[in-house]
Amino acid sequence: MGGRKNSAPKAPRATGRRDASPPWLRSQRRSAFPAILGSLEPAKGDPASPVFSAGAAANGPYFFGAAAVELIESSVAMVAAGRELLPEGVWRRGSLGESAIPAADLVIANYALGELREGDRERVVERAWKAARVLVVVEAGSSAGFAVVRGIRDRLLGEGARMIAPCPGEASCPVAEGDWCHFGARLERSALHRQAKQGTLSYEDEKYSYVVLAKGEGARAAGRVIRRPVHQPGLVELMVCDGAKVVREQVRKKDKEKFRAARHAAWGGEWPAGERG
Ligand SMILES: C[S@@+](CC[C@H](N)C(=O)[O-])C[C@H]1O[C@@H](n2cnc3c(N)ncnc32)[C@H](O)[C@@H]1O
Repeated sequence: MGGRKNSAPKAPRATGRRDASPPWLRSQRRSAFPAILGSLEPAKGDPASPVFSAGAAANGPYFFGAAAVELIESSVAMVAAGRELLPEGVWRRGSLGESAIPAADLVIANYALGELREGDRERVVERAWKAARVLVVVEAGSSAGFAVVRGIRDRLLGEGARMIAPCPGEASCPVAEGDWCHFGARLERSALHRQAKQGTLSYEDEKYSYVVLAKGEGARAAGRVIRRPVHQPGLVELMVCDGAKVVREQVRKKDKEKFRAARHAAWGGEWPAGERG
């Protein structure tokens, strides 16, 4: 790990909606999911209600300028905080294990499934997948978070789901035992955020593991940069998953075009850039 440059994903295209939220929240929206969502298009016809778990509220209005957003969260305090962040969402206080999940263009389980016991998680995944056209699962970028994501990935691919991101393929995950596939996003911290975390930095680097699965084909990356690129004079080193194996690729200055592309390659981005399967 440990590159010299922070390669945060690019900001999403504007949705045309006025965003009245505070700057720290707008930056959070910009930095968290654009790489995931870049390849997704809204369904034709009347959009169904996307369903989000609570903290995904911060990203809610961004998603397709969603027609409707519904959120399920068990904690009273989180629902209250969520309503502040996303007043236009329909907040339902309840347990994911017991709440109905209505049919939706997009269902997001954001740092939520890892909270559940395995049996409960399996039942929620089953219902979430039944409801979703596209399912996004995000967990902490830790070995435990990745294990949850990988388990859901393997299960739903086995049930006919199609991979959208981050994996370039649908074969079994080549990430070695003891390692975990994860990405990072730099988030601005508000004064309140700093106080809550007892931190002094004006930002934090959030590590996350994720998977986006769909009912139906989607274009996939040919390869995915799964570590922060390491930049040295005349050399960029990329750790790339091509779906079948993880390779460390060294791109040298003499390979002009490739080197130029490698200098712009981002952790979590596609490699080779723009090449899709
Ligand atoms: C790590 S926090 C993530 C919060 C939010 N989803 C986010 O992305 O920022 C986990 C959340 O899951 C909620 N939670 C835990 N078990 C739950 C359950 N069975 N049903 C609904 N929410 C649950 C907790 O109250 C907590 O707010």
